[in-house]
Amino acid sequence: MKRKAAAVLMLILYTVFVFAGCNKPEEPKKDDLIVIGMSQVGAESDWRQADTASMKSVFTEANGYRLLFEDARQDQENQFVAIRRFIQQRVDYIVVMPITEDGWDAVLKEAKDAGIPVILVDRMVNVKDDNLITAHVGSDFYAEGKKATDWMKKKYASAEELNIVHIQGTKGSTAQIGRTSALDDALKANNTWKLQARMDGDFTEAKTYEVMKEYLSNRETLPKIDVVYCENDNSAYGAIKALESFGYTCGKNGVSIVSFDATYNALVYCQKGKIALTVECNPLLGPLVESVIRTMEEGKVPEKNRYVEESAFEPENITEDLLASRKY
Ligand code: AHR
Repeated sequence: MKRKAAAVLMLILYTVFVFAGCNKPEEPKKDDLIVIGMSQVGAESDWRQADTASMKSVFTEANGYRLLFEDARQDQENQFVAIRRFIQQRVDYIVVMPITEDGWDAVLKEAKDAGIPVILVDRMVNVKDDNLITAHVGSDFYAEGKKATDWMKKKYASAEELNIVHIQGTKGSTAQIGRTSALDDALKANNTWKLQARMDGDFTEAKTYEVMKEYLSNRETLPKIDVVYCENDNSAYGAIKALESFGYTCGKNGVSIVSFDATYNALVYCQKGKIALTVECNPLLGPLVESVIRTMEEGKVPEKNRYVEESAFEPENITEDLLASRKY
């Protein structure tokens, strides 16, 4: 009798277990997960943090991935160490946001020899053999810079002279190279434009504040500045803080601050008029990277290079709807 009761109980438990399981979406088995080794630049800017969040929200176990995430803390050597570790761990894909462009040939050849596809995100690398890279997803940084310089050309079309201070991003990074080249080309093409200073802000608010303050402190009289071309939003915040501490006004009838990224906070600065133009750089690249991986999982060849669509904002275009919908 006891045995019969136990059998009935087992049957009930089994039925409950099976039916409960039917209602749940099927999670991939641990062994089936696609393993991604990811080397991120660091957390230097709001843009970067949004980019990391985008990756982490896509490459989850529920979506079929195991993500091995490494933060390089803005040091390229840390990226090399991470990639070599990923090779030893025999990951399925390596995803890299390269800090700077040079120096990648050896480590990417090691990944290629191990048969691991490398997907670049955001920035590029400068390698002799293009086959070391499977695909790239990111921004056209020269095009972003061109949007900014075209705006400057239009806004200051009748100015006799345009005094520009330039705050560069991390030297040797694709974002810096593209945005600086666009400005250099415009400086060559417009002889009324004068580059008064060029400083390294390393894409951070703190460094930009420091270099801008130093520049202004070292002048006998405060220079006339029409435009500060900041290579990202965080640099713009540092520049504004430094300029205002020396009595400059940023905005209409004052210094025009140009920045890149167009993150939520920058759009708010822009709405208030403190930033005159913020050029969009989209960090939400996780879904695009996943589509590259899905394409490869289906045995197809992904697009080699994919640039994201981006626009630019002035105070007049910043609506409450835009702010409410901004995800970074
Ligand atoms: O490479 C993209 C750039 O890097 C973004 O403009 C900047 O904010 C980030 O740190």
